[in-house]
Amino acid sequence: MPATSMEQLVSLCKRRGFIFQSADIYGGLQGVYDFGPLGVELKNNLKAAWWRAMVYERDDIEGLDASILTHQKVLHYSGHEETFTDPLQDCKKCKNRFRADHVKDGKCPECGSTDLTEPRMFNLMFKTAVGPVEDSGNFAYLRPETAQAIFTQFKNVVDATARKVPFGIAQIGKSFRNEITPRNFIFRVREFEQMELEFFVKPGTDLDWIEKWKEARINWWIEQGLKRENIHVHDVEKEELAHYSKKTYDLEYQFPHGIEELEGIADRTDYDLGNHTRYQKELNISAHVHENKESDSKLALFDDETKKWFVPWVIEPSAGVERGVLAVMTEAYTEEKLPNGEMRTVLKLKKHLAPVKVAVIPLKRNNADIVKLAHEIKTELLKTGIGRVMFEDSGNIGKAYRRHDEIGTPICVTVDFESIEKQPATVTIRNRDTMAQERIKVSDLPAYLKAFFATK
Ligand code: GAP
Repeated sequence: MPATSMEQLVSLCKRRGFIFQSADIYGGLQGVYDFGPLGVELKNNLKAAWWRAMVYERDDIEGLDASILTHQKVLHYSGHEETFTDPLQDCKKCKNRFRADHVKDGKCPECGSTDLTEPRMFNLMFKTAVGPVEDSGNFAYLRPETAQAIFTQFKNVVDATARKVPFGIAQIGKSFRNEITPRNFIFRVREFEQMELEFFVKPGTDLDWIEKWKEARINWWIEQGLKRENIHVHDVEKEELAHYSKKTYDLEYQFPHGIEELEGIADRTDYDLGNHTRYQKELNISAHVHENKESDSKLALFDDETKKWFVPWVIEPSAGVERGVLAVMTEAYTEEKLPNGEMRTVLKLKKHLAPVKVAVIPLKRNNADIVKLAHEIKTELLKTGIGRVMFEDSGNIGKAYRRHDEIGTPICVTVDFESIEKQPATVTIRNRDTMAQERIKVSDLPAYLKAFFATK
């Protein structure tokens, strides 16, 4: 089992302002969480690292930010209306509901009763009324995955960018699933964000590409701080595959509650582009695609070599942002015994993920010169573009170090009497991981910190 427990993480998240239960003051909305002042920074940093790796560092991927409200037909032809379901069982005694695969030995997980209903299928999509009249025809779905709009906008993106396969479309955004049993803090929730890439390839090259993407994604997670030995690759059994997939690797992580899926990398074949296309017969699309008479599209590309139209196949690496946050926090959370016997909690996040990069701390909050210099330093450091620099006015240096260790701030800069009394002005910088302190000229600080944050 991992050294970090879920209780330690939940407590830190609430105490320091990473994550709160939604509608806490009304008893909470189950399976829904809000990201607080530090959580939003960590989440944004993780998403920025993904976007950078996908869209900026490669030359074969474009971005998209599509709507959450999704036309019913899209999710009809994608197969979600029919197959995006979980079997659920009711306990007749305590009246709770469970996913059938969470019921062990026919016993209610809550009260132990064996008086349960037979499993029945439950669709996980949220519906909402569109427009002022609430009737059965006027509804849209909240998307259950970000992927579908990438497929429906495929032709527009290709026409606008003149892309040829292999190439991908990346998107980060909210998805919604009415999970029967949300659980394990932010691991299984009803509202979450996905970072999804749909990578379009020529038919027949899909199995090579899924291997390449598996390796690329493992390496990316290692760059985010996860240890290789905590990432497990699960080759999903045929019976367990999603309705659209021919082959899937799950990257699983050693979460505090057990080894579970962090990201899926699926071979979606031509299933989605095929299903949203009207011209399946003439395009020789795979047999598992349904005939589509309602769409007006031909989601196909022209092959200059064979002089034929073809529907690209798709490899999809799809990761959950909340699960990513949980994984990097699990890995980073450390409790250390200091030489004086005291314990310190440190969040050893990778620098680029840390919510606060630098805390500038005035040793005396009532000394106007010290406070003024601390403000000036903060303003100068912000110009370097390293990220959030915080003026930390807690008034107690020991407390400030403890707080910034716990929230993972890599560097604290302390402005003291020597800083204002001697020329050239100097400050103390303290490293989170080593706790080493050194004095450095104020004029050298921007270059020093820029270099420090430029390395991984
Ligand atoms: N487009 C493919 C797709 O949605 P998925 O395996 O259902 O595939 C992909 O979801 C990722 O989204 C998962 O690996 C997980 O990280 C995240 N995810 C799925 N359901 C989630 C939930 N209820 N709560 C939090 N994250 C979830």
